[in-house]
Amino acid sequence: MNIKYKAGIFDLDGVIVDTAKYHYIAWKNLAHELGFEFSKTENQLLKGVSRERSLEILLSIGGIEVDDETKIRMAKQKNDEYVRLIKQLDRSEMLPKVESFLRSLRNYGIKTVLGSASKNAPLILQRLDIEKLFDAVIDGNKVSKAKPDPEVFLKAAKEVGIDPVNCVVFEDAEAGLQAAKLAGMYAVGIGKPDQLPSADIVFPGLYGVDIKKMFFS
Ligand code: BG6
Ligand code: MG
Repeated sequence: MNIKYKAGIFDLDGVIVDTAKYHYIAWKNLAHELGFEFSKTENQLLKGVSRERSLEILLSIGGIEVDDETKIRMAKQKNDEYVRLIKQLDRSEMLPKVESFLRSLRNYGIKTVLGSASKNAPLILQRLDIEKLFDAVIDGNKVSKAKPDPEVFLKAAKEVGIDPVNCVVFEDAEAGLQAAKLAGMYAVGIGKPDQLPSADIVFPGLYGVDIKKMFFS
């Protein structure tokens, strides 16, 4: 068995844990306070998108214009509520087979890295008690350019000393898959094929991925 890929880089929200519902509650409450409804379908537009950009999308849906200072206050208000919600997060909310998948990769000597846009990644990993399952964590606190810019994945590869062509990215957002391709990596979509056109291959969840088939030849 020859090893093809030496690192797996994982998005957090939507790949490791379903946090979209908590982001949704917090954005919906902010929209409500601003006098408009924000639907679950509209929430899909925020998948993989940075906090600042998410706020801009929300405001444009509500047809609201505010100055930069107000944007900072609103983003903080949304995040304070989101953090209150995820402080209750527990391991039961981890997506199926995530932990065994990470453990198997590590047993094969494959590096595992987190590559997330979220500034709350450290808190989430701690709540799930899976920090030790990653060789490195690159999150929203460590990057300046949002996906689809490849910065987050290139930094992730560099941190563990693996060439980008030997990395596999697991992502549930189209912007993240575009970032993976721009980084020169193999891009695995998690979700539905019609919503993830940039993926090299799509699975409904990590549970569907055959590690030997994907990482070895
Ligand atoms: C991404 C989520 O992982 O992180 C987005 O898919 C979110 O919905 C983004 O906006 C930033 O997260 P945070 O926790 O820093 O607000
Ligand atoms: Mg995601």
